[in-house]
Parts: sequence; C-alpha cells; structure tokens
Amino acid sequence: MSQTYQNLTIETDDAGIAVLTVNRPDKLNALNSDVMSDLEGAILKLRHSDRVKGIIITGSGDKAFVAGADIKELTDLNNFSGTMLSERGQQIFNMIEQSHKPIIAYVNGYALGAGCELAMACHLRIASENARFGLPEVSLGLIPGYGGTQRLTQLIGKGRALELILTGTPIKADKALQMGLVNSVFTAEEGLEASKSVLKTILQRGPVAVGKAIEAVNAVFDAPGKGYHVEAEAFGALCGTIDFKEGTTAFLQKRAPSFNGN
Ligand code: COA
Repeated sequence: MSQTYQNLTIETDDAGIAVLTVNRPDKLNALNSDVMSDLEGAILKLRHSDRVKGIIITGSGDKAFVAGADIKELTDLNNFSGTMLSERGQQIFNMIEQSHKPIIAYVNGYALGAGCELAMACHLRIASENARFGLPEVSLGLIPGYGGTQRLTQLIGKGRALELILTGTPIKADKALQMGLVNSVFTAEEGLEASKSVLKTILQRGPVAVGKAIEAVNAVFDAPGKGYHVEAEAFGALCGTIDFKEGTTAFLQKRAPSFNGN
C-alpha cells in the first residue's frame, strides 16, 4: 500500500509495517496546521487498517526529523488561539501515545520543539547519529505546548527535563541515549532498517498483549493529568506577550531575540 498526503507519505510493506514520513523538507519538516491535519488523519486511518500492524514515523531528507511547530504560523496566535492550538496538538499526540499498535519514532536529524514532542509521544525512539533533540521554545518566548513538559519529565525525570526546557539547548543523540530519551542510536545508513527490525520483533508477540501493555504503561501517568491543562493554558498566555512576538519575529528575521520580560 502506498498513499500520499500533501505533507506526508505512507509506505506499507508485506510485514504490515507502515512508514509514515513527514514530507516538508524545505522547512525541515516543520509542523504547520496542514501537516498536523494530515498527521491526525493518517494516524486514525493506520490505527484502523487491518493491513497495518505497526508504524514508524520519520522525516524526509537527511537533515531533520521535524524541526518544530511552524514558527511563521505561530506569529498570528493570541491567548485564546494559542491555548486551542496547544490542546489540539496535545490531542493528536495523545492519539499516537494511546495507539494499541506499536509506533516507533525513527529520529533521523533535528527533533526540536514539536518534533521532539512528536518523538516522545511514540512508544520507542530510535535515533541516527546525527539526530539532535531539544525543546528550544523559551528562545521564542514560549514553552513546549504539545505535551513536551509532561512527557520529557516522564522520560528523563524533573531535573534533567528542567535543564533541557529552561536552557532550550539541543543535545546530541549519544547524550539523549545516556539520558534515556532515546532507546538506541544507529548510523544514518542503518537506522530505518534497525527500526523495522525492532518493530518486527514486537509484531511477533501477541498483538492484543502488546496493545494492553501500552495501555497499562501509559496508565502509570494517568492521574492526576492536570499538567497538560496547565501546559496549554501557559502556552496560550505566553502567546499574548511581547516576548513571544519578539522571539518569533527574531527567528524569522534570522537574528537573536532581545527579551524584556513583558
Ligand atoms: N518553523 C518554520 N520554519 C522553519 C522551522 C520552524 N520550526 N525550522 C526551520 N525552518 C525553516 C527556516 O526558516 C528555513 O526557511 P527559509 O529557507 O525559507 O529561510 C528552512 O527551514 C531551513 O532552516 P535553516 O534555519 O535555514 O537551517 P539551519 O541548518 O541553518 O538551522 C535549525 C537548522 C533546526 C537549527 C533551525 O532551522 C532552527 O533553529 N529551527 C527552529 C527550531 C525551533 O525553534 N523549533 C521549535 C519551534 S516551536
């Protein structure tokens, strides 16, 4: 099966492995609202397809997995629309996390902001040696809004999560491995096949058991669940600040931001 969306490609092999590739290489696969809609539709479809047993999400080109939410699109946000955008992103990534079919992120380059959040919503993360992980939103006067504050803390603990989120400084694949943010690292030549090989192992196990295992592990983090709401409200509030306008404008003008704390 081969299906093409405007911003994604999907190739499914005879083993039932669907490789979903975010395909916007000229913008380093940044997630604008069209890509998010495609992603939502594709995941829904793949989850319900009898032919598809497991999914790999990756990015097109050799430079980026996904370099974040589309910053140009963010500039129009206000308090209300910012919260709505965050809640919608949380909902789509939550759908990935809750899938009973296993989903592996093959991170083949930059996984920044929403790209890192997308990878973290997947059940496993396999990286190429050139991958870079980071949540640089504070450099834009923002915070991660698609579940990143919650999932990074779950994966690597509060101290290291705060270090990455507050500095906004990306880390290399080997450090991400050391921190437990990724499961394994391969060369760019081997990474996709290695991801398929891990997925094939999972697909040999009882599919109902695999689905229930995902559900049970996710349930560790179910209660109290307030963090996602706090994140979306904070994301929206920041969209009404002068610092946010300055941070996003500075990125688009290819200059360093000058924040004044308003
Ligand atoms: N949103 C929108 N456009 C983006 C983008 C994003 N998150 N990330 C990259 N792009 C665009 C650039 O604007 C550029 O477009 P242009 O050719 O029309 O100018 C193109 O993708 C290539 O990126 P560029 O910055 O020239 O590549 P680089 O190799 O110099 O730097 C990065 C790569 C990833 C370090 C840099 O693009 C970057 O910092 N991106 C933003 C990361 C970020 O803050 N993500 C969180 C967003 S919430």
